[in-house]
Amino acid sequence: MTDESGDGQLEARLAEQEAFEPSDDFIEQANVADESIYEEFEEEWPECWTRAADLLDWDEEYTEILDDSEGPFYEWFADGTLNASYNCVDRHVEAGDKNRVAIKWEGEHGNTRTYTYQDLYREVNEFAAALRDLGVEEDDVVTMYMPMVPELPIAMLACARIGAPHSVVFAGFSAEALATRMNAAESRYLITCDGYYRRGDPLDHQAKANEGLSSVDHGVDATVVVDRLGDDGFGHDLKGNQHDWDDLLADFQGDRVDPVERNAEDMLFLMYTSGTTGKPKGVKHTTGGYLAYTAWTSHAVLDLEPEDTYWCSADIGWITGHSYIVYGPLALGTTTVMYEGTPDYPDRGRLWELVEKYAVDVFYTAPTAIRAFMKWGPEYPESYDLSTLRLLGTVGEPINPRAWKWYYKHIGGEECPIVDTWWQTETGGMMVSTLPGIGTMKPGSAGPPLPGIDARVVDTDGEEVDAGQAGYLTVQRPWPGMLRTLYRNDERFIDEYWDEYSDPDEGEWVYFPEDGAKIDDDGYITILGRVDDVVNVSGHRLGTMEIESAIVGVDGVAEAAVVGGDHDIKGEAVYAYVILEDGYDGTEETRDRIIEGVEDAIGPIARPEEVTFTPELPKTRSGKIMRRLLEEIANGEELGDTTTLRNPDVVSDIQEQASGD
Ligand code: PRX
Repeated sequence: MTDESGDGQLEARLAEQEAFEPSDDFIEQANVADESIYEEFEEEWPECWTRAADLLDWDEEYTEILDDSEGPFYEWFADGTLNASYNCVDRHVEAGDKNRVAIKWEGEHGNTRTYTYQDLYREVNEFAAALRDLGVEEDDVVTMYMPMVPELPIAMLACARIGAPHSVVFAGFSAEALATRMNAAESRYLITCDGYYRRGDPLDHQAKANEGLSSVDHGVDATVVVDRLGDDGFGHDLKGNQHDWDDLLADFQGDRVDPVERNAEDMLFLMYTSGTTGKPKGVKHTTGGYLAYTAWTSHAVLDLEPEDTYWCSADIGWITGHSYIVYGPLALGTTTVMYEGTPDYPDRGRLWELVEKYAVDVFYTAPTAIRAFMKWGPEYPESYDLSTLRLLGTVGEPINPRAWKWYYKHIGGEECPIVDTWWQTETGGMMVSTLPGIGTMKPGSAGPPLPGIDARVVDTDGEEVDAGQAGYLTVQRPWPGMLRTLYRNDERFIDEYWDEYSDPDEGEWVYFPEDGAKIDDDGYITILGRVDDVVNVSGHRLGTMEIESAIVGVDGVAEAAVVGGDHDIKGEAVYAYVILEDGYDGTEETRDRIIEGVEDAIGPIARPEEVTFTPELPKTRSGKIMRRLLEEIANGEELGDTTTLRNPDVVSDIQEQASGD
């Protein structure tokens, strides 16, 4: 990061400071402020997890906390029953908080909608009634392909109410990505939206949804379309079993649907995420463990109280939005803010305008956003009153110390602790982070594992590394929010996460998240990034294999290799190296077709930053592409060992091509 990024103004004191303490004011009011919590969780494990479960209302109390008899297919609170929608909505109404705001929504243009818990109760019930009428039954997977409109959390909670797991597909994904996910889950229902606004323009989302639907292999029983654009819409007719959200709901005004009593281990939702192979993985989360864990971490790490106005600027289409816009905050009865647009429209002060307007107490965002704020300069946040903020958080990728300090100074006014939270789609909730009322913060290092989480950094043999050494992050004991399996693919579940370090004969199961990490002598963990073929673009996880197969699908492409290279704002960006078939040239037109191919197959977020044409790819003697070299080329770094290459000459050719761009 260069000095023009705004933090040139950081005082020398701040720049050199390596450790930060939470203020007394923060500690005094923190939900968790006693250090003994770490010891208590250790001594009382696994009973300690009742603290998480106690944040929920159970229909039938569980008698067993953890069933570890069939590791790694762990079960949590397994004989308990509950309903997630009841926990996120009804119980707050019943407790007398019906007029508290549940969701504050702001559209890109500044139009707003406010849902109290009573409003949310009404809307969720009516939509649950509509879903039932459309034929949705318990355990049917309902797909949602929606932008940031309030109907998305309403639909999620309506599904939870009737025990139908949802599978939310990020709206920025392509039609093809939607179809792949609906096919994989054999999902027969789709909730979508006509469009949304991006930087002032209406986007035609329904066209993508319709195109996706046309590639679904099985019958689709019903589609519901939210009308977001009104007169700005693209005039799509609703055909056959497609229903307009409002028209549909008109028939269910005032209807109530009893929340279905779900077993704790029943699936709450599926979320597809990228892995090493080209096929997305259907991560399965359950009702009891997941909800307890997101509520607990919202309480302990985000320090949320019902009185708070809390804003997580992620998209609900990713796990961060599921856990920390919808389920965690609503389970605690907090006010959660949803914003439709981007941080720089209509101007670069937009987010801070919203923090001031809604008097946001806790703000959670991604390092990529913070790096953009830095680049834009401190004058934007300085124009707004951010004094209501009491806690800041980051998630999704490593945060460099300078970005951390910029966030601390210019957004938090040197008063707010920052929680740098490491976790994944698979973990359901936060795993490694300081507790804001307890821990010393060290910029760049996420912190110690949360209480009860046994995260360790090991070498390739599974032995713990010494302090200061790099190794692989592992989690050596189960936790309530963990994924239970990959949907309909137990074998891949074991292969992907448990094969590396477990000793099944001894009944020892070690979870491997595929991240590199380093541990300090005080137990703080610094995350070094993915060690598998996954790139992290702006905190969004993309499989290089998925991108490669999209590129290979483009006319004239013979072979492709994709790697992640460093990027100032995005953290990582996609770099593609492409071999063309004879008769095709590496022209601008070919490049455009490749980019279009990736956007069609996955979405604009996977768009290659650079496409380099090459007659060959660097391969080992056994024929494996040497991605490390390609990464070094992408980063303009000095090349490491090339002696094991079958075709060492190719490297300088590629370097020339790449620098010639
Ligand atoms: O590499 C880690 C990175 O994001 C990956 C998980 O991506 P995803 O499942 O999409 O979930 C993102 C939001 C939870 C991890 O394997 N990652 C996440 N948080 C951090 C991080 N890397 C460093 N520091 C973090 N705080």
